[in-house]
Amino acid sequence: MNIKTVLRPADEAGVDQAAQLLRRGEIFALPTETVYGIAADARQGAAVRKIFEAKGRPQDNPLIVHVAGPEMLPGLVAEVPERAQLLISAFCPGPLTIIMPRGPEVADECCAGLDTVGIRMPSHPVAREVIRRSGCAFAAPSANLSGRPSPTNAQDVLADMDGRLPLILDGGECAVGVESTVVSVVGPKPTLFRPGHITLEDLERALGEEVEVSAAILEKLPEGAVVRSPGMKYKHYAPKADITILDGSFEQFRAYVQAHADQNPGCLCFTGEASQLGVPCVEYGREGDGADQAKHLFRSLRALDEQGDGVVYARCPGRDGLSMAVYNRLVRAAAFRVVQL
Ligand code: TXA
Ligand code: MG
Repeated sequence: MNIKTVLRPADEAGVDQAAQLLRRGEIFALPTETVYGIAADARQGAAVRKIFEAKGRPQDNPLIVHVAGPEMLPGLVAEVPERAQLLISAFCPGPLTIIMPRGPEVADECCAGLDTVGIRMPSHPVAREVIRRSGCAFAAPSANLSGRPSPTNAQDVLADMDGRLPLILDGGECAVGVESTVVSVVGPKPTLFRPGHITLEDLERALGEEVEVSAAILEKLPEGAVVRSPGMKYKHYAPKADITILDGSFEQFRAYVQAHADQNPGCLCFTGEASQLGVPCVEYGREGDGADQAKHLFRSLRALDEQGDGVVYARCPGRDGLSMAVYNRLVRAAAFRVVQL
């Protein structure tokens, strides 16, 4: 691939160009409130295939279809189940993807052989304006090369996608920083497939019932296990460094790092801790503040890569509320290596 990539502001003219590309069956990158995405018209199979090619994405990993509002759903979904209605009223537009029965107009390439489709209504004004001007629902995965951390600013998109797509719309830094919460309302029980800014507790409150948590969220699945959400089985967010999460207090963490000084380790730590550790550090957010950690995690993983490879010890985020989303990404970046201190 050697396409000339233009990075331009997401202003009137930029958004207009993006809307034209969408209608013509071309791909481009754009900001959303979660992370940057690579968009293609969800009804054009040939356009959607270009996304897989640009990312080097496995064909069996389905894409999320983005719409402005529920009025765009006919044709894309077979029905809007009652639970989906409740979730839409509570959280949309916003950082939530709802898995629903698939409709006839979605390109096969979006669904990877499943009879369901992931639907999301982004709140970011640029994403919404592109949909409005083009009249198209767009399929979009995160705008990273497959396996790399999701990009949360336009420069990080360029680092991965230069030469692979014609346009990157620069809309500044993403507010949320981790990808949308993915919840399925197909099947007997609602199920959380991927944690995000909308938490498990938020979903249960809106639905008035318990939501099942897919086993793959916090733990490594056994070899050959069946996954209902294919994205969960891939090694994800993998930086070059060998990250190990150390679960314990700051004092225990510092002692462990000092005891392993012969490895010349680096650290991924909380805000304000770098100066106390005496080794190269990247800070990824305030301790106990899941929203702040979510916002900075992916940029921090990329910053680690820019420092080089080697051994990295990471401070452990919580596992509940918004921290579940942070832990879910970090434990994958660490290839599930967690040491209890
Ligand atoms: O915040 C986001 O969701 C971003 C922005 C660009 O909107 N998009 C994103 O897409 O994160 P992607 O492709 O990187 O992640 C989509 C996840 C994958 O884990 C995939 O397996 C799952 O959603 N998914 C999509 N459609 C599905 C379906 N029909 N059934 C089960 N899982 C599905
Ligand atoms: Mg992704």
